[in-house]
Amino acid sequence: MVKPLILTGLRANNDLHIGNYFGALLPLIDMAKQKADEYDINLFVPDLHSFTTPVNHADLQDQVMHNIKLFVAAGLPLDHPNIHIYRQSYIPAHSELTWILDCFTGMGEMGRMTQYKDKSANVSADRISVGLFNYPVLMAADILLYGASYVPVGDDQSQHLEFARDIATRMNTRFGELFTIPKAVKEQHEFFGKDQGLRIKDLADPSKKMSKSDDSGKGVIFLGDNPETAAKKVVSATTDSLGVVHYDTKEQPGISNLLELHALLSGEPLQAVIDHHDGKEAYGDLKKEVAEQVTAFLTEFQSHLAGVDEKQLLTKLESDEEFMNKMANKTLLGVQRAVGLRPRG
Ligand code: ADP
Ligand code: TRP
Repeated sequence: MVKPLILTGLRANNDLHIGNYFGALLPLIDMAKQKADEYDINLFVPDLHSFTTPVNHADLQDQVMHNIKLFVAAGLPLDHPNIHIYRQSYIPAHSELTWILDCFTGMGEMGRMTQYKDKSANVSADRISVGLFNYPVLMAADILLYGASYVPVGDDQSQHLEFARDIATRMNTRFGELFTIPKAVKEQHEFFGKDQGLRIKDLADPSKKMSKSDDSGKGVIFLGDNPETAAKKVVSATTDSLGVVHYDTKEQPGISNLLELHALLSGEPLQAVIDHHDGKEAYGDLKKEVAEQVTAFLTEFQSHLAGVDEKQLLTKLESDEEFMNKMANKTLLGVQRAVGLRPRG
């Protein structure tokens, strides 16, 4: 029996921060570990997506490998037979199917994608790449080639997932059963449990979320930060002048953020951390504890990262890529036959 497939693209880059780690990386790895006995799990690096907006091409190859290593360092098992890891561009069928699907996709349909609209706003038309425009078609190919049912993505990708369903339905209606239709967004949420909405705040400005697009980086703890520098960022975190520790995200967002970080870093329930600190009349102890935890966390994470066995990783990638080429080419051949590019079988 073929197992249902969970598939997602791992967009991560060099400067992931602890918000990305606790909000995205860890939940994905936990999900993979929990479901891997009953489902097939494809986790791939969408390297062809990486230059829909300009990048430094000299760094891309290192960056792709770094991305994958981050996941391994965060606990992604390399030895589970149902967890597959691969690089998109090593499976040429992704590009080939994209071209075919492009020819059944409307310009208007792509132009309505909110992410495209956001990313192309205020950029002159000649500087917006066609790749950025038809990126959702490539994403649909990523999903449909392997018959994925479940696709864990953030809300910003829901519209793209809906498009994958639309184009799959359109092709199936016209040419017969070519593709498995991925589940609708609502069912995806039911399956994965809706995003808990974790939002670590910027340490320097707790009114906004920690984000890698922050220019100063003063309130952001990157996974690659020197642990001492990171501890200093915690100690100088912006708090308030109330002078008593309470968990109150409106009145005391800085303190509440530190309490949340404390809970995440220690693995203790938030309520236990709150109970321990609530009512204290100085912020120094809390800051000191969180700073120590951040130092310990980064030191450990960085040592895991340095310890990732690159040879083992490459062997895994190459063997999964060989297998995925077979799977993807099978789906592609069905499509090529249906549209008249190959003799009907
Ligand atoms: P950034 O704002 O740093 O560029 P992205 O928008 O690329 O982050 O988000 C990547 C993933 O990390 C998403 O799944 C998002 O929900 C999660 N994430 C981003 N920032 C935070 C944060 N401050 N706290 C928790 N999760 C976050
Ligand atoms: N577009 C996704 C993002 O920006 C990454 C991605 C590419 C993806 N192809 C995918 C996610 C296929 C799920 C399935 O996060």
